Amino acid sequence: MDAGAFIQEQTEALRDTVGDGRAINALSGGVDSSVVTALAHRALGRQLTTVFVENALMRAGEPERILRIFGDLGIPVERVDARREFLDALRGLDDPEEKRHAITRAFYETVFGRIVRESGATYLLQGTILTDIDETVAGIKRQHNILAQLGIDPESAYGYKVIEPLRTLRKDGVRAVAAALGLPDELTRRIPFPGPALATRIVGEVTEERLETVRAATAVVEEELDGCGAFQYLAALLADRATGIRDGRREFGQIVAVRCVDSLDAREATATRIPWETLERISARITAIPGVCRCLYDLTPKPPATVEYV
Ligand code: XMP
Repeated sequence: MDAGAFIQEQTEALRDTVGDGRAINALSGGVDSSVVTALAHRALGRQLTTVFVENALMRAGEPERILRIFGDLGIPVERVDARREFLDALRGLDDPEEKRHAITRAFYETVFGRIVRESGATYLLQGTILTDIDETVAGIKRQHNILAQLGIDPESAYGYKVIEPLRTLRKDGVRAVAAALGLPDELTRRIPFPGPALATRIVGEVTEERLETVRAATAVVEEELDGCGAFQYLAALLADRATGIRDGRREFGQIVAVRCVDSLDAREATATRIPWETLERISARITAIPGVCRCLYDLTPKPPATVEYV
């Protein structure tokens, strides 16, 4: 694929379609939405509104990092604090499908729906890629960015049309376009991270306190395994408890599972053979997080397990 030609073509197509109208997109910090943001900014300039929805489920320092990167690129991004809406939507839920559904609804119906209406935009840009479409058609994965699958007809629901400039590309193509657009490696070379974010790593109810625990454990795992060459690594907070000892006293504490997998495309995966010393260091740091008294390393391949826990 010729990234330069793709950018040229899509820039012209975006200008033709949007005309003198307004477009909007949501930036998550993943490579797909980052490429859409940079491409559309190049094509549409001030006719584009890009929002970064802070949803309470992000990794430590994430909003600041993404806003800094786009600030450095001179691309304006509006930060929308929707943490309360997402936490409210998740309160009391422990079923995985209900949790995922609540996040989708909070995003499309409550938060983003409102933002789009207020913006007056008539075009919504989405970072759907070919793999998303394939997996949806094959019924493999429920994709948060394919609205028809969610039963939403955007034109009648919100009055906007959806444009998907990346729908002919796969991940390697998106990365090539990202590089050609000048997006930094720290953004385009990141390990995969799911749309529902840390909620996929909390078994049971998602609360502020439990998010804080999994966020701290995630930071440890990402620091310790950065550059290890694995496909993906993460920490998950289990719903169970176990007995431990802290400062000579019994503690009935929380359990964190660490997962690190080798994979080509996440359809199948095997546990990475991490050096024992690294695992010991991760375990020591994770059990220093308040309330956590055990750390496990997950050896299960996919299948039968999935990569995420929820
Ligand atoms: P699973 O857990 O299904 O994950 O083995 C396979 C890959 O997909 C990512 N993942 C998601 N990505 N929205 C996303 O954008 C989601 O809802 C979602 N669920 C899982 C996961 O991180 C892994 O890379």
